[in-house]
Amino acid sequence: MMKHLLTIDDLSPELVNFLIGQALSLKHRFITNATIPHYPQSSLVNLFYEPSTRTRMSFELAAKRLGMHVLNLHSHHSSAAKGESIHDTIYTIAAMDVNFLVIRHHQNGLPITIKDNLKNLAAHVTTHIINAGDGQNEHPSQALLDLMTITEKKPNINALKIVIIGDLRHSRVANSLQRLFKLLKIDNLVLVAPEAWQPQIVHHGSTTNSLTTGLMRADVVIVLRIQHERFLENEHCDLADYRKYYALTKANIHLAKPNALIMHPGPINRGLEIDDVIADSNQSVILEQVQNGVYMRMAILAFLTDQARN
Ligand code: NCD
Repeated sequence: MMKHLLTIDDLSPELVNFLIGQALSLKHRFITNATIPHYPQSSLVNLFYEPSTRTRMSFELAAKRLGMHVLNLHSHHSSAAKGESIHDTIYTIAAMDVNFLVIRHHQNGLPITIKDNLKNLAAHVTTHIINAGDGQNEHPSQALLDLMTITEKKPNINALKIVIIGDLRHSRVANSLQRLFKLLKIDNLVLVAPEAWQPQIVHHGSTTNSLTTGLMRADVVIVLRIQHERFLENEHCDLADYRKYYALTKANIHLAKPNALIMHPGPINRGLEIDDVIADSNQSVILEQVQNGVYMRMAILAFLTDQARN
């Protein structure tokens, strides 16, 4: 039984397919004004210790569309300002019988530590922990919404060539995507980055520093943001050089298949890793990823709630 969503390793292929099916059905039901499940007793708290627009709003909208109560903790207004540790803040909130804690934090593995400690500290607590991005480690709900978006457009997922381009070294999204593609046996995965941003650990796929090799006949092109805030001293890369060799532009998009999907988890650095004409083209599904994110998160919240009740 899955109680938390901390890493893609918490999932089985069957559960991934179930969640995608549920998310697509919730999307259809919401858009056509059909009834959707309602959980008026449930509460969700967003604990975001890093900036976020889409992920935080997406969890909030997802919970509200399911009739849940939502609270957002603003870290600068919390007891952190009085010297309380983040751990104590989180245990305090969980102790109020909150159903979901959605955590984003710059420390790798923090949601897992919180889950382990909560079990020992407060046996009465039944809170589900959801990892909304821990450092450079994982961002499982983003990978799930990305796969949902791919499946919706190209259901033959195992036959696809998928390329992920950019700052793979610092990307928790790319880590979760590699694990998810591995789980579902999507094996034609190419990771493209300059040497300085090649992943330190490759979970799945092959790496190259050649954009041409990666893009050639690709069915899905996933572009990553250059995450300046995560760079260490020796990891800086000349941005003009990066643009020259790795940006997705009109000059290289033709290497991919003509109907290739263009994706980006956002936020986008327009004119750096991707050009406007590409991000805004009719091949781009970037805003559909955002749309699908709400329904995927609804599916995750509903699944965890139903499972705990049965
Ligand atoms: C990503 C993140 O925060 O990991 N954004 C997101 O959640 N959609 C990617 C990024 O910050 O570049």
